[in-house]
Amino acid sequence: MEPIEVMPITEIGNFAQLAADYAALLTHPSNKDLLLDFPNTVARYGGESDEAVRRFELARQRCADVERHQFLIMVDGRAVGNASVDQPAEVPADVSAIYANASLFVCHPFRGRGLGGLALDTQLTVIRANYAGAWTTVRASNVASHGLIRSRGFKPIGAQPGRVEEEVIYMWQDTSRSL
Ligand SMILES: CC(C)(COP(=O)(O)OP(=O)(O)OC[C@H]1O[C@@H](n2cnc3c(N)ncnc32)[C@H](O)[C@@H]1OP(=O)(O)O)[C@@H](O)C(=O)NCCC(=O)NCCS
Repeated sequence: MEPIEVMPITEIGNFAQLAADYAALLTHPSNKDLLLDFPNTVARYGGESDEAVRRFELARQRCADVERHQFLIMVDGRAVGNASVDQPAEVPADVSAIYANASLFVCHPFRGRGLGGLALDTQLTVIRANYAGAWTTVRASNVASHGLIRSRGFKPIGAQPGRVEEEVIYMWQDTSRSL
């Protein structure tokens, strides 16, 4: 079986291979849904290699400097997805500002193999250790993401207009803390 890792960006030294992996996957037609949910990521990492390497270096530096956690989802040493935990300046109404935002993606053809679940479990370990809870938003028609998020105990708390379509707001609370 291929070795799978959810690796903190701070532990990665050389981004050239990652940049090449990302560029190929993010611009592949099978992953065009990422343009809907992660347009900035596709713009940053889907183009010229030097720029993508620079962006990875900036992202690593941010994780060292501020309270942000970013992981690359690796299969056989190749980057196939991303998982981040941070506290953006703007949060949806009804979400506590002390909660962390969790976001992730896995590229085709690596979806449906448990990688998204593995990455979200890693994110929840970080969240349990550092925050009172977490939130995320999911486009109304993004069936896979609703399934994944709900499977890990996120609960819908509302909805908001999104760039593309309505988004469901989900919240996750560490129930072990209140027992
Ligand atoms: C959502 C996403 C991360 C799932 O990644 P993945 O590696 O395919 O997910 P997994 O194989 O680990 O599946 C985990 C769970 O997700 C749900 N799921 C995954 N694919 C699904 C699908 N096509 N339909 C319904 N549920 C699905 C299931 O609950 C699944 O658990 P199960 O296998 O026990 O049923 C991936 O589809 C993706 O990157 N989508 C585009 C970006 C995105 O929507 N990100 C989330 C925004 S918060």
